[in-house]
Amino acid sequence: MPENISQLDYEHFKTFLEDACGILLGEGKQYLIVSRLTKLLRQENIASVTELLVTLKKGYPRHLQSAVIDAMTTNETSWFRDRTPFDALTKAVFPELDKDRLRQVRIWSSACSSGQEPYTISISISEYLASAPLSGVKNSQIEATDISASMLEEAKLAEYDNSILGRGLSDARKSRFFKAKDERWQVADDIKRRVRFSEQNLLASYARLGKFDIIFCRNVLIYFSAERKSDILDRMAKALNPGGYLFLGASETITGYSEAFEMIRCPYGVYYRLKA
Ligand SMILES: C[S@@+](CC[C@H](N)C(=O)[O-])C[C@H]1O[C@@H](n2cnc3c(N)ncnc32)[C@H](O)[C@@H]1O
Repeated sequence: MPENISQLDYEHFKTFLEDACGILLGEGKQYLIVSRLTKLLRQENIASVTELLVTLKKGYPRHLQSAVIDAMTTNETSWFRDRTPFDALTKAVFPELDKDRLRQVRIWSSACSSGQEPYTISISISEYLASAPLSGVKNSQIEATDISASMLEEAKLAEYDNSILGRGLSDARKSRFFKAKDERWQVADDIKRRVRFSEQNLLASYARLGKFDIIFCRNVLIYFSAERKSDILDRMAKALNPGGYLFLGASETITGYSEAFEMIRCPYGVYYRLKA
């Protein structure tokens, strides 16, 4: 692919990407298109961004749109990312939910990437149950969704190598919650069993997912415009049961985007609760 993309092609590509998945490319990010799409365009025998845009407009081959989105998304993640949300879960949110009623808890990991976030939530549940065996959290269900088909495949496979496990996972947790498999490590069945993966674009309707007690929407809103952030947060508020909780990434906030939540500051950091 040629290194220089015309301003017109860049504008058209930005519009395509924002309409398709919400990701806003700023000014001067042509290099991102080159670095992320060169391999795909070679595979698809497409010579330039101009030709890519024409092909995308035709809508054929049909897999092209999702392959482009897949290549343009940032899938950076790790185990127990930022640590505090998972401390807040086990030390504040789960005990609070248990006060009301011992019932099943539904959790949505809404941009789950390669699975570390939902599996970390499931590990946190197992750790909590060790001290609260009668908790309703025992029957929790974690819906893990992402727009990226390739990330979802990796997540479902639930096998990671040492270097990936080394990003946030202690040796104690590794030996307790993973089984060695060839050169890799497989997530233990009881951790995997709680998690169900499916494809979901955050721009599309959430109706099929049902209601949740807790939503994780971490490190994805940063890529979206203010209007999209507000729309997503308002629709997530509607997808929560009364008093439900929302966790955002460390550099994200609802301030200025949604009035539906109150901020909770605790020794384990900041999270949000749906207002009554
Ligand atoms: C940086 S990762 C964050 C992963 C995880 N939540 C964490 O905090 O470690 C962002 C994820 O958002 C996904 N994503 C981007 N746009 C999306 C959209 N419109 N709908 C659903 N997922 C999206 C990407 O595929 C990627 O896996």
